[in-house]
Amino acid sequence: MRDNQLYEGYEKLSRFRNSIKNSKLILNIEDHGAGSRVLKTNLRAVKDILKHNCSTEKDAQLLYRLCTYFKVNQVLELGTSLGIATHAMATARPQAKITTVEGSASIYELAKKALVKEGLKNVYTVHSTFKNFFETRKEDRTKYDLIFIDGHHSGEATLQYFESILDRVHNDTVVVFDDIYWSEDMTRAWNEICKHSKVTASVDCFDFGMVFFRKEQLQERFYVKL
Ligand SMILES: C[S@@+](CC[C@H](N)C(=O)[O-])C[C@H]1O[C@@H](n2cnc3c(N)ncnc32)[C@H](O)[C@@H]1O
Repeated sequence: MRDNQLYEGYEKLSRFRNSIKNSKLILNIEDHGAGSRVLKTNLRAVKDILKHNCSTEKDAQLLYRLCTYFKVNQVLELGTSLGIATHAMATARPQAKITTVEGSASIYELAKKALVKEGLKNVYTVHSTFKNFFETRKEDRTKYDLIFIDGHHSGEATLQYFESILDRVHNDTVVVFDDIYWSEDMTRAWNEICKHSKVTASVDCFDFGMVFFRKEQLQERFYVKL
C-alpha cells in the first residue's frame, strides 16, 4: 500500500485533476448525504467541490494501486462526485468495469461529461441515490472485486450500505471506506463493520478503511499509517 514508485498512469490522474481545478462553474447541488462540514449552501463552485469533496491526489493514487494490485474486474463506487477516484480506478484497469453512483444531478452530469471526454470506455455512470441503486437491482447478481463507499458519511447509513453490499462480495473482495474518522458516528460504524461476522481482515489507514472477507484469514485488525 505504501509505495512511492511513480506509476505511468499518475500523470493522467494529475492532468484530469488539473482540468477541473480552474473551473469557474457553480453547480446547484442536491445533498443526499450527511452534508458538508465546510460548504454550507447548495450552490457550490466546482473548484471547492474538488478541494473539499473529492479524493486527494494521494488517495486517488492509492485507489489506482489497489485496482492494479488486486487486478480488479468489477468495481462499484458509491459517490462519484467529480469523478476523481472513478478516473483513477478506470485508468488503472482499462479492462475492468467501473460502476459509479451519484445522487446529485448536476454533479452527475458534469462528472459523466468529464469522464467521457477522457475517452474512458470502462466507466458506467449511474444517477441514483445509493438506496435506490440497490433497491432497483435486487435481481442483479454482479459480484464486485472492489467496492468504494464514499458518500453519505453518517454511521447509520454506512452500516446500511455495508449490509446492502454483502450479497455483492466474494471471498476476495475488498471494500474501501473513506473518512472513517469523519465523525464519532462514522468511527463507531467502522468499528462495528470490522467486528461483523463476515469480515475477516480489516486495515485501518487512519482515514481510509479496508475490509476483507477471505475465509482463509481469521478476524484480525491491522493499522497502517500511509
Ligand atoms: C465525498 S464525495 C465522493 C468523492 C469521490 N468518490 C472521489 O473519491 O473523488 C460523495 C458524493 O456522494 C454523493 N452522495 C452522498 N450521499 C449520497 C446518496 N445517499 N446517494 C447518492 N449519492 C450520494 C454526493 O453528492 C457526493 O458527490
